[in-house]
Amino acid sequence: MEGEAPHIIHGLEGVYFTESKICKVDGTLGKLYYRGYPIGALAANSSFEEVCYLLLNGALPTKKQLRAFESHMKAERKLPRHIVKTIAEMTGKAHPTDILRTAVSSLPTYDPEAYEKSQDANLRKSVRLISKMASITATIGRFMCGGKYVYPKRKLSHSANFLYMLTGKAPEEKQAKLLDTMMILHAEHSTNASTFATLVTGSTLADLYAAITSGIAALKGPLHGGADEAALLMLRAIGKPENTEAYVEHALEDKQRIMGFGHRIYKTYDPRARIIKADLEALQSSASEEIRDLTAIALRVEKLMIDKLGQSRGIWPNIDFFAGPIYTEMGIHPDLFTPLFAVSRVPGWCSHMLEYWQNNRLLRPLELYTGPLDLEYVPISKRR
Ligand code: ACO
Repeated sequence: MEGEAPHIIHGLEGVYFTESKICKVDGTLGKLYYRGYPIGALAANSSFEEVCYLLLNGALPTKKQLRAFESHMKAERKLPRHIVKTIAEMTGKAHPTDILRTAVSSLPTYDPEAYEKSQDANLRKSVRLISKMASITATIGRFMCGGKYVYPKRKLSHSANFLYMLTGKAPEEKQAKLLDTMMILHAEHSTNASTFATLVTGSTLADLYAAITSGIAALKGPLHGGADEAALLMLRAIGKPENTEAYVEHALEDKQRIMGFGHRIYKTYDPRARIIKADLEALQSSASEEIRDLTAIALRVEKLMIDKLGQSRGIWPNIDFFAGPIYTEMGIHPDLFTPLFAVSRVPGWCSHMLEYWQNNRLLRPLELYTGPLDLEYVPISKRR
């Protein structure tokens, strides 16, 4: 009806804009499925490579298909010399997420099919992105510690090779498995802010590299992927387990957000956080004193927050809360948490982009203009 103000949905909360067969997030029951498979089953039984195949192709691979896919991923690990140089030039001057974003946005320079739009070419580029983003991020971490570029090792799995390129040493199997599980848990989560940003860019028919660059940019903020870095810094700021209650009480009175809690969709315990918490508890007996302290603090924050805001406000731990101590135990610097999140999430971004392009429609919502109209233009010489 003319003259009636349109209904504005801030933050597009509760708005459906497309259909998808990739991921189901049940925020009421606390369940998550990739292509119909419960996240717990994938985390317990699958590998990151297999999950990438599942997300991109829609079904679990046969042994032969998985071998071919792994081989393709391995073949794409090496970085162009100029990308390594760009990373070296930016290290120490820019946040690692910004370095990753810059490196990814320059990848088309080295890809002869960068602007090829067929589904097959986009699948090949997805594999290229998954492999190269891991190599880029490991190299950023390597340079941050003053190390030299480490060439990828073909016989290692994706997660083991990441740790190898980061540290220069092949990791223990247990450590690579733990990182593999973290990567599976982070691989996909429907149309969150970074996936939506990816789709907005891709819906203009820009190329896959442009779309993924947008996804990385959106992931950076502390309300989204940046929360795991912020959560770890908070645990460190609390310092000792006995400081926890005073810290949290004061933060809540001060209307601050406790990082790693709350979610737009989950109004119950995030199923990924449950798995990460169990993994963190399982490594306590062999963990360093720092990790045992951080875990003790995290468990006290968790209890306090659930008592205060869990049932009553639906604010529960999310995927970012327990991740920091696990990454720290692996020797991964907090500045690398968000790029590592992007490394894990890129199969999800690519799967959504490829699916959306099958039935593309330019994403272009409306805003309600509330400013003045028909103002008289005053020449600059007459303005006061
Ligand atoms: N700590 C304290 N209070 C919180 C928190 C929190 N972590 N999260 C939400 N609230 C409160 C808000 O202050 C608000 O209170 P009010 O109604 O009294 O003003 C209420 O809960 C609703 O908050 P919104 O921001 O409107 O809820 P939204 O659905 O937009 O929030 C979000 C989701 C942004 C994730 C929020 O919970 C938050 O900021 N959490 C901390 C950051 C974080 O952990 N982000 C990672 C999310 S998971 C991921 O993206 C990978």
